[in-house]
Amino acid sequence: MTHFLDIHKTDPAALRDMINSAHAMKTARRGLPKGTTDAEQPLAGRMIALIFEKPSTRTRVSFDVGARQMGGQTMILSGKEMQLGHGESIADTARVLSRYVDLIMLRTFEEATLHEMAEHATVPVINGLTDASHPCQIMADIVTYEEHRGPIAGRKFVWSGDGNNVCSSWLHAAGQFGFDLTFTGPETLDPDPRAVEFARAKGSKVEITRDPLEAAKGADAIVTDTWVSMHDPESARERRHNQLRPYQVNEEMMARGNPDALFMHCLPAHRNEEATNAVMDGPQSVIFDESENRLHAQKAILRWCLGV
Ligand code: CP
Repeated sequence: MTHFLDIHKTDPAALRDMINSAHAMKTARRGLPKGTTDAEQPLAGRMIALIFEKPSTRTRVSFDVGARQMGGQTMILSGKEMQLGHGESIADTARVLSRYVDLIMLRTFEEATLHEMAEHATVPVINGLTDASHPCQIMADIVTYEEHRGPIAGRKFVWSGDGNNVCSSWLHAAGQFGFDLTFTGPETLDPDPRAVEFARAKGSKVEITRDPLEAAKGADAIVTDTWVSMHDPESARERRHNQLRPYQVNEEMMARGNPDALFMHCLPAHRNEEATNAVMDGPQSVIFDESENRLHAQKAILRWCLGV
């Protein structure tokens, strides 16, 4: 069974094939209306379940559109309206869904839920975000970086802010694709040490510093995310804002990076919090390309999982 559960659990050659496939499929669609189906229909006759236990705009729409472009059919399911984990075990839900659909994409809270789904499903499972990681986003972000600046290997990425699930997937990617990552943020919000260890063990230089302007020196890309993630309690909002304000990505910070450094953010953003409008809408920003590339990257992931 070919699941796409995490970047660090996927063979690096397969990851590279998916990135190349995403670039090729994007190029092949250039200039076509959005609703046009692809010349190749590798998902013809396939049914895809997209399950969301958390809100989503990009993941929901890009998977749905991508599957349809390749000839597949989709159903979007809300975790709240299913028996998932409350009326029925995750294992039994996985067994039942596997009788109806050819692939399951799951956005959920606990990483363990995703793994239980994958263990008991007899069809491929894709991680559409958990509290621990967001691999589809980072695959799209690698497509984005490389279409603007060429090979990502050997580059210096800077993550500023909360060492959250997206940061963990960046660290996994650093190890698998051979780039370096400097984290800058408050100590209480340091990234998952398992992700740091993975990247270092693979030979990436991972630095952790409390000084955002020092961190940004020589950056090829500066990346951030919201200060309060979907899984963080609302009661933590004020404390997090106070802790993270010094790590806002602004023009001063961007100016410390290389002149051709990119600004990246997976969105949704809280404008003028984690990054200023001037940076988000500035010439170095590729945030909407990242959103578009969710479509192309996930089409490649779907094909890889289904072997088509
Ligand atoms: N970046 C991302 O996953 O966006 P959504 O939460 O809108 O899917």
